[in-house]
Amino acid sequence: MIKQQVEFRDGTETRKARQARLAERKSAKKAAKPAATGVPRLQVGAFPLSKMPRTGWKTKNSMRSVTRVDPIPHRASTRVLATAYPFLTESGKILRGAYVGENMLSRSPFCFDPWDAYSDGIIKSHSAAIIGVKGTGKSMLGKSLSSRLARLGRCIAVPHDPNGEWVRVAEYVGGKSIRVGLGIGTRINLLDAGVRDDSVSRQAWREYVLQERRATVKAVVRQLRQGAAVNEFEHTAIDEVVDSLMGQDIVTVVDVFHALRKLESNDELVRRAAHALAHTMRRLVAGDLAGMFDGPSTVDFDPTSPMMVVDTSGLKSAAADMQALARLATTRWVRNATTGANRRPRVIVHEEAAIALMNDVYGGAGLMSRVADEKVARHDGTSNWYLLHRIADLDALGDEGSATRTQAIGLLADCETRVSYQQHPGEVARSARTLGWNQTMSNLVPSLKKGEGLWQMGQSRIALVRNKLTPREIAVFSTDGAGGAR
Ligand SMILES: Nc1ncnc2c1ncn2[C@@H]1O[C@H](COP(=O)(O)OP(=O)(O)OP(=O)(O)O)[C@@H](O)[C@H]1O
Ligand SMILES: [Mg+2]
Repeated sequence: MIKQQVEFRDGTETRKARQARLAERKSAKKAAKPAATGVPRLQVGAFPLSKMPRTGWKTKNSMRSVTRVDPIPHRASTRVLATAYPFLTESGKILRGAYVGENMLSRSPFCFDPWDAYSDGIIKSHSAAIIGVKGTGKSMLGKSLSSRLARLGRCIAVPHDPNGEWVRVAEYVGGKSIRVGLGIGTRINLLDAGVRDDSVSRQAWREYVLQERRATVKAVVRQLRQGAAVNEFEHTAIDEVVDSLMGQDIVTVVDVFHALRKLESNDELVRRAAHALAHTMRRLVAGDLAGMFDGPSTVDFDPTSPMMVVDTSGLKSAAADMQALARLATTRWVRNATTGANRRPRVIVHEEAAIALMNDVYGGAGLMSRVADEKVARHDGTSNWYLLHRIADLDALGDEGSATRTQAIGLLADCETRVSYQQHPGEVARSARTLGWNQTMSNLVPSLKKGEGLWQMGQSRIALVRNKLTPREIAVFSTDGAGGAR
């Protein structure tokens, strides 16, 4: 608060005496002023030039004027400006992280890092959903933001790249890619255990690996049976077999297959169940799916690499169940390779997540484990990014109110960062309900241009961002033309 001292004088002072008194006060004030610090005073024109045309931006209802306005230069803190121009000025809180582009609402740069936003209390989970119709720039956003985050020390993993479009991105940031597919000769062991973190006791780690392996074998069996559930005798058989193999350093599905065939059990029903399971798993070991997952891994997941990509484009012509199994295998393999001692802030990009969710979900098992993953992701420091075409894809997972569909919607609700690219007008009502849009947002999303996205962060933060890319980035990330196979 400014305190002003008011002097009261009687009316006898002459004009001359008053002028003399004021002049004396002025010179005393000047003498009391501290010496110049050498810091040059801010000059008008010292700011970087604004890109704004003199008559303002040419947009609808922007009140552009034919006469030039010359406001008096004024200097104020961002705090004051944010109060004076609440809709135009950034609070500055989301300016930590990697550069994404321009916030079209405030014309200021927009940066984002899931971990910084989390520690600033803007979001309560690290994961993000990026939703939009084909070709609107979802992958470009994923590639540009993740590669810029990689430069800031974050790690990135893409467990399933069905178009092989991330291979160039991995090269660009100095990362690595692994190709899997028929006839390629790369083998991934689904049952690879991660590396124990010293803070976890040997006993606790053994328990964790045991649970993971049991869950993986059950998920594989369900996948091979197109979603049919594993019965109680089969559960027992799998638990016993996986437990009996825990003494080995490396366990593969081949070991599980042989152990199931030879399982000695007093219970005839468990023995029969093991026999049936061995027949189901035979496809992986000696049938049409042999060669990809039936032995020790021939490739290494490098946890220190800035970006690791599993290129599954070699499976494009493979049968649907083969693709689904590969997706399950590579996602689990990446997850196991990034736990324990290899845990660090890592973005995991799920390309074509809606299709993956649908395929892995027969019986809800795949989705259930993904929902569970999401809960532990917070502690693991993982930021899952799900790229979806439309919310309605989730409706195909089950009837309204069904457990599977509720889980899928729950998974989306767990994504506190939601980026909406252009959507068809017909989809807007559905998206508005699920994503919590108001009328203005609903009107905006169908008219977004390529590379423009509506960002919702947490409950109250909104930004309209144009993802900006350098010519070099466009050349590397582009999926049309020479950019990559589609
Ligand atoms: N921000 C951007 N700046 C410049 N070009 C862009 C931008 N975003 C997208 N594009 C162009 O649009 C093309 C398609 O973008 P992208 O591959 O990201 O689409 P998508 O939403 O992932 O589509 P799909 O659902 O088919 O995977 C890119 O190859 C690129 O040429
Ligand atoms: Mg894409």
